[in-house]
Amino acid sequence: MSLAPAQEADLLAAAEAAARRAYAPYSDYPVGAALLFDDGAVVTGCNVENASYGLALCAETVAIAKAFEAGRRGGLVAVAVVGLKADREPITPCGRCRQVLNEIAALGSTDPLVLCAGSEGVRRVALSALLPHAFGPAHLDRASEP
Ligand code: THU
Repeated sequence: MSLAPAQEADLLAAAEAAARRAYAPYSDYPVGAALLFDDGAVVTGCNVENASYGLALCAETVAIAKAFEAGRRGGLVAVAVVGLKADREPITPCGRCRQVLNEIAALGSTDPLVLCAGSEGVRRVALSALLPHAFGPAHLDRASEP
């Protein structure tokens, strides 16, 4: 699956704008995520850190939580992730975020395209490639849970 260049640029811009709203005083590694749904809606998130370091929330997880709260239960077609300080390797969603992304993807039977931004360009990879053989709702017989 691929996005039109303009759609891809818009999604990356939304993720970058979210990264600029990150609360990341401890790592100084601001991250933004933007989720694109099949109705064209975009839901963003940024990382939210905490004085108790281990409680940090990643940008992707924040975006997914917002999407669930907005009533979404599928329809995820693409995800853009931007790290403002990701100046070497393109950033990729951490393991926990891959699992969190998989939940909404599985509910809607989509395999979202993940755009990972770096200074050298954008890495485009399917979520199923980032998280093969994923554990998901179907394992618990909850494939179409509301
Ligand atoms: N972070 C994200 O927000 N998303 C990722 O996929 C990787 C890591 C955040 C967590 C923490 O606030 C900071 O980046 C440094 O690890």
